[in-house]
Amino acid sequence: MKVIAGPASTELGEKVAQLTGFQKVNVASRVFPDGESYVRLEGEVRNEHVVIVQTTCAPQDSRLMQLAFLVNAAKRHGARKVTAVVPYLAYARQDKIFLSGETVSIEVVASMLHAAGLDQLITINVHAESVLNKFPFPTKNLSAIPYLAQYFVQMGHRKAFALAPDKGAMYIADQAKMVFGGESGYLEKQRDRYTGQTTQTGGHLNVKNQTVVILDDIISTGGTIVGAAKILREQGASHVYTACVHGLLIGDAEKRILDAGVEEIVATDSIPSKASKVTLAPLISKELQAQASG
Ligand code: R5P
Repeated sequence: MKVIAGPASTELGEKVAQLTGFQKVNVASRVFPDGESYVRLEGEVRNEHVVIVQTTCAPQDSRLMQLAFLVNAAKRHGARKVTAVVPYLAYARQDKIFLSGETVSIEVVASMLHAAGLDQLITINVHAESVLNKFPFPTKNLSAIPYLAQYFVQMGHRKAFALAPDKGAMYIADQAKMVFGGESGYLEKQRDRYTGQTTQTGGHLNVKNQTVVILDDIISTGGTIVGAAKILREQGASHVYTACVHGLLIGDAEKRILDAGVEEIVATDSIPSKASKVTLAPLISKELQAQASG
């Protein structure tokens, strides 16, 4: 295998190459004055299984085009197989038509990457696993939750209460609970499809005087975590932390969350930011090494 660190995931790609010992192929990339993306492979890929590590956070559309160009460049230059490791998969949340007149955006992304020559996609905690059925080639969804939970254990929070801020994140809270060895629970969340506003409600949770970690796949505007923190305060939690795989942290999300009494925000390097305290490199490397030897 050879590893390409795409322009959106240079550090993560570098770490994966180091951990796996697979040779790295450098990429030259730039943006033309009119905004178009340019990429060029600077090494040999003929007859290789090439792994491109490229997240697709903002600017999503440019990141996706860079990925498609890299896939196609590898194929044109004789790569035997091309795998994309896309930690944050843009457009995964538009996986169906919610309102008349919309499209299924992720299906368009899947077709584009297929047309470019992609053979396999590996992603991390994709919003809904069913999204991967839209891809006409093999896919794999890995979970970073045990690594996030381990961070809190190392900080001395064994037995923390793992809270899912909505039912969809319950599997996440349950995976964290396995590491914490404490309890887990979830809140109910409703989203207004026109305004995007969410409202949350929770029954009685056993969090009085407890340390709670609110775990989600994505923190975007922070509204979900702020709402959950408010409920936890009302129910007497003593310390509240939050962790997510994909810290989009749009605008003043971080400030809003900290102002709501959350003591720390922890994310992975799926989307590089100052909250990226847990690296995905060991998780990705383990999977690639298993594939290489399998
Ligand atoms: C949606 O259900 C996701 O799992 C997240 O809860 C959501 O994307 C978070 O968005 P925000 O931070 O804007 O509330």
